Amino acid sequence: MYTLIDGKATAAQIHSELSMEVQNRLSKGLRPPHLAAVLVGHDGASQTYVNNKILACERVGFQSTLIRKESTVTESELLELVASLNQDKDLDGFIVQLPLPDHINPEKINEAIDPAKDVDGFHAINLGRMLLNLPGYLPATPAGIIELLRRYNIETEGKNCVILGRSHIVGSPLSVLMARSARPGNCTVTLCHSKTQHLKEHIQRADILIAALGKPGFVQGEWVKEGAVVIDVGTTRVPDASRPSGYKLMGDVDFETAAPRCSAITPVPGGVGPMTISMLLWNTLDSANKRHYGG
Ligand code: GUN
Repeated sequence: MYTLIDGKATAAQIHSELSMEVQNRLSKGLRPPHLAAVLVGHDGASQTYVNNKILACERVGFQSTLIRKESTVTESELLELVASLNQDKDLDGFIVQLPLPDHINPEKINEAIDPAKDVDGFHAINLGRMLLNLPGYLPATPAGIIELLRRYNIETEGKNCVILGRSHIVGSPLSVLMARSARPGNCTVTLCHSKTQHLKEHIQRADILIAALGKPGFVQGEWVKEGAVVIDVGTTRVPDASRPSGYKLMGDVDFETAAPRCSAITPVPGGVGPMTISMLLWNTLDSANKRHYGG
């Protein structure tokens, strides 16, 4: 029988830890941590993600600010907004929700964010600090996966970890975190991508399989090694007329066929997803406590 890695319950536990940290700050006369989110346009998934981030702030007692811009906003207007958020002394961290409209260069926006307020952990400085094992903000989804492995006491040392997908947000940073000399860590990492040959053979060798492709149901159960740990990062909206929302969320792994072969597996939804927000809030608390960058 496999262990279901319950991200929802773990995130709820982390939220109660965060609430206690907020109370600690308040008892010392400090203000609550403050996160701002910038949302450009009206993409349905982005609106849901940002709303969930704001709701999570309220739940743990953080202050939050939602800044909405129409999709006609220019790149220079958005850069000006980023500059003003960088300067705002009452703000500990902020995120600019991706994707952005085509006329805005996301790299330019990302690099304009003060690394000390980059609680998404996407800035080159934070990614570089991660590579060098220096303090900084870890990107939230990879950090959430590491936290799940830690809290479920999953042994990673010496294991073959196969990661599907090399995105800047998930796959690439995870390949660094899973290989580094730490617990969890110390894996032999294979990072697979769209040009990888013999993908199935790589998957079959995975003691720890992390799927972050965005291809619903791509990984077949029969490809999964007996006893493997499977972390499914996929959250694709698939039309489903039987649901009020009109869609369901599907992971990259075919859960029904994969789960019986696994020692542990994350569900979708309720696995990695809720952890992403928890780690974003941790980064914001760290910024408020100035645990990074010493300021
Ligand atoms: N779009 C999808 N995931 C994320 C995330 O973690 N942060 C931001 N800013 N945008 C996203």
